[in-house]
Amino acid sequence: MTRTATLTYGDQTIELPVIEGTEGELGVDISQLRAKTGLITLDPGFGNTGACQSGVTFIDGDKGILRYRGLPIEQLAEHSTFVETAWLLINGKLPNRAELDQFSKRLTKYAPLHEGFKNHFEGFPLNAPPMAILSAMINTLSSSSCDGRQAPEDDIDELSAKLMSKVRTIAAYSYRRSLGLPFIYPDPKLRYVANFLHMMFSMPYEQHIASQEVVDALNLILMLHADHEQNCSTSTVRVVGSSKANLYASCAAGVGALWGPLHGGANVAVLEMLEAIHKGGMSAAEALALAKDKQSGFKLMGFGHRVYKNFDPRALILKRAADKVLERLGVRDPLLDVARKLEELALIDPYFVERKLYPNVDFYSGILMRAMGIPTSMFTVIFAIGRMPGWIAHWKEQNQDAASRIARPRQIYTGPTLQSYTPIDQR
Ligand code: CMC
Repeated sequence: MTRTATLTYGDQTIELPVIEGTEGELGVDISQLRAKTGLITLDPGFGNTGACQSGVTFIDGDKGILRYRGLPIEQLAEHSTFVETAWLLINGKLPNRAELDQFSKRLTKYAPLHEGFKNHFEGFPLNAPPMAILSAMINTLSSSSCDGRQAPEDDIDELSAKLMSKVRTIAAYSYRRSLGLPFIYPDPKLRYVANFLHMMFSMPYEQHIASQEVVDALNLILMLHADHEQNCSTSTVRVVGSSKANLYASCAAGVGALWGPLHGGANVAVLEMLEAIHKGGMSAAEALALAKDKQSGFKLMGFGHRVYKNFDPRALILKRAADKVLERLGVRDPLLDVARKLEELALIDPYFVERKLYPNVDFYSGILMRAMGIPTSMFTVIFAIGRMPGWIAHWKEQNQDAASRIARPRQIYTGPTLQSYTPIDQR
């Protein structure tokens, strides 16, 4: 039986269909609301708005559940790799050996950038933020890979591998550029993560071979960031893609959305906050008091989430990994002590408890990346490399959905009513 919700407004009553997802999530389909009543909905920040039906990722924020294509994040973290998880997200099922081999070969094949692209890097100032370079260079890829519109259907697999591979090279080159160091070519013998670290840290006269601990930790970080359903950047990718913009243009826009400190940029903001607290001699309790004072403009970065109101399962996995990796690498980081103290106090503080504010993925990813020798300026770039398969999966899903329409929200207009033009000498 089709379920409906009843809406009464004035003397009008209408029935709206209720759509049910595979995990029991319910949504009222309001697509006929304006046509039938003249009303629109108003939901700043889209906290109550479902923009699409999607089969990529399931989150239950109250129970702290995250699943990619039905697979719990904990199982993937234990058994999978970033590359395998990427294929899963993009294609909807775990790959068999032949499919994974083909994907890995494509990632290797597409790793080098066109030599001419190096000239683009020369044009950026040395202190250009790597996120600015990343976004610009992903857009640049569309100048040679697409016809400016969408890719033909059968090219999506190739395009996805190309983007996932090249984004890693671009990211490493953006870092090399910021230091004025020569670009290091990808090494076809190395796997995805090790190859990225090689391009970041090798010298022409000495190859950097990352330790297994570091490779595993980065694999984990990338995998945990690989998708998170309709977050700010993924929604951006879908909005841009809804106009039938190509995959690269859509993902370049996603990088812009991810950059902000309330989203992917939070991993940098967390570290800056921990450093400021540590260097400024502020106690964790004082920092917490500041975060609770609305006039201060200070938030506890790495805390809170629009969807998770219990705990962020990615943060739990990363916290354990950070403890283990720091111990194995023999790193003693005073910032980790500050982070631990902040977490301990926040978890029992009524302000944070009542608002259900828990550490999110960014609270521990920065500490972990710092221990691995990754510079702060690259934290959000690494988030972007990790999120790429999610963006691709959503772009592909939307592109293959015949019912998809261009994203075009409405508004409640609050500006001046009709005015007449006043000539300039009479104003
Ligand atoms: N520190 C102090 N107070 C906070 C914080 C925080 N980090 N986060 C939320 N609050 C307060 C907020 O002021 C509000 O208080 P009140 O009810 O008194 O007005 C209440 O908690 C509810 O917060 P909200 O602003 O309605 O939450 P939101 O869903 O709009 O925003 C958020 C979610 C993640 C942007 C926000 O929690 C935040 O700014 N956190 C810090 C930045 C951060 O860590 N971002 C990374 C998110 S996880 C990675 C990702 O997916 O990008």
